[in-house]
Amino acid sequence: MFLFNKPKPSLADLIPEGYIDIHSHLLPDIDDGAKNEEHSLKLINSLREYGFSEFITTPHVLTGVWNNTKEGIISTETRAKKFLKEQSIQNPFKAAAEYIMDETFSNLFKSEPLLTLKDNFVLVEMSYINAPIQLYDIIYDLQVAGYKPVLAHPERYLFYHKRFEEYAKLKKSGCKFQINLLSVVGYYGKEVLETAQKLLDDDMIDFAGSDTHHERHTDAYKNKVQIKKTDKLLTALKNNSLFKN
Ligand SMILES: [Fe+2]
Repeated sequence: MFLFNKPKPSLADLIPEGYIDIHSHLLPDIDDGAKNEEHSLKLINSLREYGFSEFITTPHVLTGVWNNTKEGIISTETRAKKFLKEQSIQNPFKAAAEYIMDETFSNLFKSEPLLTLKDNFVLVEMSYINAPIQLYDIIYDLQVAGYKPVLAHPERYLFYHKRFEEYAKLKKSGCKFQINLLSVVGYYGKEVLETAQKLLDDDMIDFAGSDTHHERHTDAYKNKVQIKKTDKLLTALKNNSLFKN
């Protein structure tokens, strides 16, 4: 009878070989992620110990809070890579961005090329308080401009938890969904965990991401996975190989 009580895996146990992470804040002193180059190194080393193989790192572009530009991100990437190379870390990451969907973003993608995860895939997010009024116009225009939106951590938007039909609407409008790995260990709380479970059960999750900012995030990979079945999460983790070069 005890055979039925199979021990739950830790989050680290689920990271597949060759895993490429598509969401993190590893560039030094550019947003609320890594504070400096040493901190970047520490976070990368921790994640590598869990089996992460490659990183696409995605600093926030959030006007008024993190006024990052493409040029600024690229120059920070170049500097950080130089430092990391001196520490024997070759090809630590490729830099892209996590764009908040607002009016500034709408103007940006109409006027200059965006930093993409790969090809035309763009990582986007929205405020945790509410969706922008013009949300569906932005998603539509972004696709007209030639991009494929990947919505970061849909399970974390509390305002959708009781309006689950909105998730189907977002998918139908062309968004791919990227789950945060920490959601399945309950890092963001029970409601986010339950929504993550439901999105996985409903086959709505396309990709996975760590959204690493600091050590509290990397430490949580030692925690047990709280979702009932891990098969769909494993599929999402493996789907990330699409972003390899
Ligand atoms: Fe993020």
